[in-house]
Amino acid sequence: MKLLVIGGGGREHALAWRLARAPRVQTVFVAPGNGGTATAQNIQNVSLSTNEELVAFAQKEKIAFTVVGPEAPLAAGVVDAFRAAGLKIFGPTQAAAQLESSKDYAKAFMVRHNIPTAAYQTFTDPAEARAYIAAQGAPIVVKADGLAAGKGVVVAATVQEAQQAVDQMLGDGSFGAAGARVVIEECLQGEEASFIVMCDGRNVLALATSQDHKRLKDGDQGPNTGGMGAYSPAPVITPALHNRIMREVIQPTMAGMARDGLPYTGFLYAGLMIGDGPDATRPLKVLEFNCRMGDPETQPIMMRIKSDLTKVFELAVAGRLDEADIEWDRRCALGVVVAAKDYPAQPRTGDIIDCLPQDTDDCVVFHAGTKLDNGVLKTTGGRVLCVTVLADSVKRAQAAAYGAIAQTHFDGQQYRSDIGWRAVP
Ligand code: AMP
Ligand code: GLY
Repeated sequence: MKLLVIGGGGREHALAWRLARAPRVQTVFVAPGNGGTATAQNIQNVSLSTNEELVAFAQKEKIAFTVVGPEAPLAAGVVDAFRAAGLKIFGPTQAAAQLESSKDYAKAFMVRHNIPTAAYQTFTDPAEARAYIAAQGAPIVVKADGLAAGKGVVVAATVQEAQQAVDQMLGDGSFGAAGARVVIEECLQGEEASFIVMCDGRNVLALATSQDHKRLKDGDQGPNTGGMGAYSPAPVITPALHNRIMREVIQPTMAGMARDGLPYTGFLYAGLMIGDGPDATRPLKVLEFNCRMGDPETQPIMMRIKSDLTKVFELAVAGRLDEADIEWDRRCALGVVVAAKDYPAQPRTGDIIDCLPQDTDDCVVFHAGTKLDNGVLKTTGGRVLCVTVLADSVKRAQAAAYGAIAQTHFDGQQYRSDIGWRAVP
């Protein structure tokens, strides 16, 4: 069978890598892919971007099913376009993808359906937003309403910082349409975890849990990024907490979307903040919904899947996820992101990647911001690589990942040296 993965980051490399290893798969096409998918076995890049191009390609190649990686094509209605053409695709419709593409929509949805989340208000007027911040005090969180590639959130320690964020988002237009409204919300404390499920409109299959590291620097310092590393499973999500998340967050979300007339299909990622206390009562709130898998969470999650993932997707697009099961490697997987110089502010591009470790069964370098330029591997900016390993413990996984990173080189490379710290005793 031939498959299509839409996207070109580390998440899509990992999805394509896992799918390409299934016995029945002839080729996984990745649109547009990156330097890693350009050279991988059974994987082929295709340069397509619009919905029309993607639909025409899927028809011509008789693609068995398509998986959408990033949020932008979902928000652009790629799932609607494929379904209208009678093609199988895994992802939410454009309307359902508002759970991610509009923070205001997501917050109103959670309040309407009693899904626990931080208290908030939405503003379009800078003066009103500033007054609200002054009245609430700091710390406080300011979020651009629309998609901002992980950079539209400011966790402000002071009133002044929050007001500056408002001025930047609502005032000077630097966030474009994404900043036409801001959501201002209560600052939550606790430990974050990523809880990702597959949905078929009626049934839900939970994937392994994971934890991301959003800040640029060691010790969770520095600016927010798209994610500097992740590991799976996340020990904070005990079986008891897992049950609570399904009952208090995932099931009400599925039911709420169905009641709103938008039955949810695709990956659903709940970013959670878990406060202190015993599992039965510790605070559990949704920070955000994403309508896709996480990046870099996908990389460790894909390393741990032992089942044939094509079968899971086939059941998902047929509305039969209740029959699906995934066998997980019991080991821990951990991925460390290697980013370009000056990421996330103004990542440099065009550096030559002159040294990479060899992939093995337990260590894979997933590419993100790379391209093959006349046979030379170069950076295209942002997060460049995610070195991902499997090992018996988080500590061993850390040692293996940083051992492999010592064999990675491009000018200006930067990475955190403490990925997984919360899970190391
Ligand atoms: P979001 O894109 O909404 O997940 O926000 C990105 C990051 O900002 C999250 O992963 C958190 O680290 C942080 N964040 C977002 N909302 C809050 C909040 N209400 N309280 C504390 N931190 C937050
Ligand atoms: N790693 C966080 C995200 O994908 O949104």
